[in-house]
Amino acid sequence: MSERPLHRLLLDWYDAHRREMPWRGHPDPYAVWVSEIMLQQTQVDTVRGYFTRFLSSFPTVGALAAAPQEAVLKAWEGLGYYSRARNLHQAAQQVLASGGALPRTAAAWSALPGVGAYTAAAIASICHGEAVPVVDGNVARVFARMLAWPDDFRKPAARDRLAAWLQPHVAASRRPGDFNQAMMDLGATLCTPRQPACDACPLHRACIARQTDRQGLFPYRPAQRARPLRITAVAVVRDPLGRTLFIRRPSDGLLGGLWELPSATLSDAAPAPRAAAQALRAQTGLALSAAVARGTVTHAFTHFKLLSHVFAARLRQAAVPPAYVFATPSELPLTTASRRALALCAPARAHPPGGKRAPTRSSSSARPGTVSTGQGNPRRNVAP
Ligand code: ADE
Repeated sequence: MSERPLHRLLLDWYDAHRREMPWRGHPDPYAVWVSEIMLQQTQVDTVRGYFTRFLSSFPTVGALAAAPQEAVLKAWEGLGYYSRARNLHQAAQQVLASGGALPRTAAAWSALPGVGAYTAAAIASICHGEAVPVVDGNVARVFARMLAWPDDFRKPAARDRLAAWLQPHVAASRRPGDFNQAMMDLGATLCTPRQPACDACPLHRACIARQTDRQGLFPYRPAQRARPLRITAVAVVRDPLGRTLFIRRPSDGLLGGLWELPSATLSDAAPAPRAAAQALRAQTGLALSAAVARGTVTHAFTHFKLLSHVFAARLRQAAVPPAYVFATPSELPLTTASRRALALCAPARAHPPGGKRAPTRSSSSARPGTVSTGQGNPRRNVAP
């Protein structure tokens, strides 16, 4: 260890180099809570805009609790990991039901839905000065390198061990919120997964990985298994008003409560349009015909990869089953994969009944496209 205590090195660096963020220095624990939930799986730069818009739509915990879930999901649209939004909404309702006061300790924060140990520690240290360390992927990387610990920090036991090591340092700092955010900023800006900027790092003299030129070996990660591929056909079906046909996903589970295009699971990675239309008819119960391939969308989820073949299709039935609605995409919170699929098709133009129809692109001239996205599209936090 170097001659100066860890907390001094970190806090001096933080005071000179901290990143500006709209929630930093915010007096309201509600705002910090919202920011920490958004930051759970998403990078700071993506969160900035979402945070500001979310707080202007739902400025208080009461406003959030009173909002319909659909409005909350709409404000979250594109951010991914939608259970965060559902939990935040439910937690706000829970807070209101028990008198409206937000928790004041990490233990009490972690009793709320969606608030794990990391988020509870972040909020309680930042808002209430509680001396609890945060250990996320960025923090684990900094200290896996500094201490040359060969643990797999995706495992809770390894994170707990590091939290126990950090605890006296957080307490000694007397600025727990800043100490924690200094570690996070250091991991995000200097101690990056590839090509860490060791020369600028305040911990470089104490860092065993740097001294032994083994930064690339930490944090240790055993080889991961490949994620399975799920193949689907999705149908873009429009009504004479230019609206698109959507179905709502079940409230619980992956992307719960979001709306998406009708889809069917396929076994063939390169399906013929007829086979896709057949699968769509069989699995959705919709009478679809004239499927025209418009391209593919790939999307990476935590446990599988999705390859969706997008087809523009016609509906050969007067009324749609009750689960489906025709809507303008901007009216509904949509899955990212569905938004990407829509982008491959000619834009829906609303036009009044009886009005002149906007000319549509001929399907034969439209070149199929390819779009790739990660979960929710925003880049994930750099985590080990
Ligand atoms: N990641 C999660 N919370 C953060 C915070 N408060 N500051 C910087 N990065 C973060």
